Amino acid sequence: MAIDLKQTGIDPDLPTIPPTRNTQEAVRAALGDLQGNILQSHGRDHSRHLFITFATASAADRQQARQWLASLAQPAYVTSALTQYEEANRYRETLRTIDRNGAITAADRMAMVLSASSVFVGALVSADGYRDLRLGADLTPDDPSFAVGAKERVAVLNDPPVSAWEPTFQATLHALVIVADDDPVLRIDPLVAELKQQLAAIGATVAEETGTAMRFDAQGNPSPTGTVHEHFGFADGVSQPLFFARDIERARTLNGGIDVYDPSAPLDQVLVKDPAGGSDGYGSYFVYRKLAQDVAGFRGDEKALGLEIAQQSDPKAQDPTDADIALAGAYMVGRFKDGTPVVEQQVPGLVSLPNNFSYDRDVDAVRCPLASHVRKVNPRGDKQRQFGVPLTQERTQRIARRGISFGPVTLDPAPGDSVGLLFLCAQSSIPDQFEFIQALWSNFEQFLQPGTGLDAVIGQLPPSESRDQALEQPWPKVYGSHNQLDFSQQPPAPTSPFFPKRVGQWVTMRGGEYFFVPSLSALQRF
Ligand code: HEM
Repeated sequence: MAIDLKQTGIDPDLPTIPPTRNTQEAVRAALGDLQGNILQSHGRDHSRHLFITFATASAADRQQARQWLASLAQPAYVTSALTQYEEANRYRETLRTIDRNGAITAADRMAMVLSASSVFVGALVSADGYRDLRLGADLTPDDPSFAVGAKERVAVLNDPPVSAWEPTFQATLHALVIVADDDPVLRIDPLVAELKQQLAAIGATVAEETGTAMRFDAQGNPSPTGTVHEHFGFADGVSQPLFFARDIERARTLNGGIDVYDPSAPLDQVLVKDPAGGSDGYGSYFVYRKLAQDVAGFRGDEKALGLEIAQQSDPKAQDPTDADIALAGAYMVGRFKDGTPVVEQQVPGLVSLPNNFSYDRDVDAVRCPLASHVRKVNPRGDKQRQFGVPLTQERTQRIARRGISFGPVTLDPAPGDSVGLLFLCAQSSIPDQFEFIQALWSNFEQFLQPGTGLDAVIGQLPPSESRDQALEQPWPKVYGSHNQLDFSQQPPAPTSPFFPKRVGQWVTMRGGEYFFVPSLSALQRF
């Protein structure tokens, strides 16, 4: 039976209670047919991405490829959203038991954690996959950007030309299989070897990426229970749209509350009906982008911006203090490294990674710059203030991020280390969500106000234009000093509360593709 995708806060463990729109039975049926990692992150710290190009020349080749994809729908492989949800419950219960037991060895902890969950497997198919396997137009998801694929969207997104992408992504990719677990050696490697053997037997070629969640404690030391960070050193994966009642409840108590910023989202934020699925069949569109991070470059800008911050109060300052550098980084990202939103305070230190904030009291952007990454990619009501676009509409453009870092697990990579983010996000419309955010917010120098500049983390000009042609972004001369906002002058007038400075581009797209995550009933019919 179909479910109402407008529902927020679903709870598979509770019988229907108002204002729940769907019966418990309907919710459980839909989650049982839906793949995991869409409504919640799979949460495993190690991930292997297998990019598959099938042999598709003959009908027999195509038949084999389709059968192989169908075989993934067996319970031994693809993890349903319902299984993932129930395992996550068990996992939390296990962690509580570990806490109650007090001292416990790292090995025992790992054994207990692993016993609470299975290896996560996800299967994603590209539009080239649907086409080359002749799955049929009526069974193919119809998002227009998905249909043409990422290579055709380079110009819209100011991405590097496909000829500059890594060879893996220049190839025609039919499918992506994600294998994820907390134990890469004993549980990921054997399964990946098994899948690769099966794929070799049907003449498919496979390219791989390896992702590792980088967990660090408050002192910056690697810790299995620490917070996930990305390579520039910032806590990541904090703000996400939440779909389950249980996750929203946790945010209410653990993430600083939800009365100022409501993280809940209806299912149709990320789910669409799967045209190839059964009556309970839903799927989601996934954007995959390999994003290399130049950590030294970013740090250089943090320091240079930090020096200019220092010179606002002492023109003779030669060096920025650590606090100036931290504030500069927070201006660029919108949060301090520990996750404290810069709109909330001038220094890090807010506990429990607060997500309960908006920019309502910073319309002048003298606390959180309009070029900062998090304000660009989730303006939290700025659009309503500036253009009268209802907040409800802005909220439909949110994405669910499911990415993971690649490269050595360190916040201090050696020169020459290749590090960055295997960016993945789920949505129900690629043009209205990911592409809109990247092209019309992050890359658009006039977003919200004339002269706000590029997103200081992911903004990119067309590759034909040099970064020197980018506008200088306006940064607060004094944190929180509210003055008349004047973006109309470039560079800002002497009376402006901002000083202009251009930050460099330290994130480079190395390739990507758009995928659909089919329902299990659809996979079975492949
Ligand atoms: C938030 C880093 C790429 C969309 C964040 C945060 C960090 C971060 C540190 C703040 C923590 C959090 O709320 O989770 C990065 C880095 C990237 C990258 C280093 C590239 C290497 C992208 C891309 C997009 C994106 C390509 C989409 C176009 C978001 C969104 C949020 C976010 C939607 C949450 C904002 C909010 O709700 O307040 N990112 N990001 N990020 N990022 Fe990124």
